[in-house]
Amino acid sequence: MSEGIPVCIAGTGSYLPEKVMTNADLEKIVDTSEEWIVTRTGIRERRIAAEDEFTSHMAAKAGAKALEQAGIEAADIQLIIVATITPDTLTPATACYVQQHLGAQGAVAFDISAACSGFLYAMKIAKRLISDGAFENALIIGAEKLSAFINWEDRSTCVLFGDGAGAAVLRKAEKPGDGEILATEMGTDGRQTRLLNIPGGGSACPITINNADQRLATLAMLGREVFKHAVTRMKQSAEKVIERAGLKAEDIALVVPHQANLRIIDAIAERLDVPYDRVFTNLQKYGNTSAAAVAIALDEANRSGAIKKGEHVVLVVFGAGLTWAAGAIRW
Ligand code: COA
Repeated sequence: MSEGIPVCIAGTGSYLPEKVMTNADLEKIVDTSEEWIVTRTGIRERRIAAEDEFTSHMAAKAGAKALEQAGIEAADIQLIIVATITPDTLTPATACYVQQHLGAQGAVAFDISAACSGFLYAMKIAKRLISDGAFENALIIGAEKLSAFINWEDRSTCVLFGDGAGAAVLRKAEKPGDGEILATEMGTDGRQTRLLNIPGGGSACPITINNADQRLATLAMLGREVFKHAVTRMKQSAEKVIERAGLKAEDIALVVPHQANLRIIDAIAERLDVPYDRVFTNLQKYGNTSAAAVAIALDEANRSGAIKKGEHVVLVVFGAGLTWAAGAIRW
């Protein structure tokens, strides 16, 4: 299937809250250990947003950096898509607050909910809308304040997640190889909703005075099952975009995967036959920041020089839904 008029990534940005929570800090809250967390996940610390710092604030800060790198004024951005499962409010969309924070009054703004896959879902939507001529540019953002939706008494989940935001500006590619998004792919398996969800707080289970003590508006996960699906789906998804982009594993200079667990990332690198030094990780510092994770990783890879102009990069993600997605880019 044709991917349409070429669209490129013109700039990236990210924002992490100041407060660092280490594994030693978690040892004081729940029955866990630095050794367990590091060997099972690779995570050493995560960032926690301030009480008055919302998802939209982090999203706008990451977005402003991406706009600055792209050389586009906020007033000139035409589309803002925020991927999040931790919106400021159920309605309006977090993207509307972001539009206001940035002063991007000319932009159409909406959210999408695809959990950890959200940033790449947003990328595919924005790419298509730009290549169809509906918009000239777009700001896509993955942003989460997961700390507000964690049960801090549940050691099986609270050690895994963190807060943050990452963003990218998309526009029509002026010349081939200009950060061009070569191929994208996404998928969903709604049979597996039970594996990873926030059961309360929606219309199916509103929080009431009678259930308020059950912490239903916090993340629940069957970790082992999620792990198996993550490895299979991310491998398949990455292979599809590599093939669609007309590439081979050896052409990929860097894989930027969802940052949930180093063991998942190791398993995918091995199955894709990509050497580990060509896989970008930063979950050691930030934990799993859901929709923000791959966006923050892409920005760090970009700004640190881990990706060089003309090189091929594969992004691949997986999350609740279950959802998965991948993208191949010629940087
Ligand atoms: N500290 C210490 N022990 C813990 C713990 C913690 N924070 N969390 C769980 N444990 C214990 C469990 O109670 C269990 O004890 P038991 O054997 O006595 O019952 C033991 O550790 C093993 O638990 P298990 O859940 O089987 O561990 P695991 O090796 O599967 O690792 C995850 C758990 C969550 C790290 C792993 O399953 C995972 O990363 N899954 C995918 C998660 C993910 O990617 N989610 C996001 C997708 S976007």
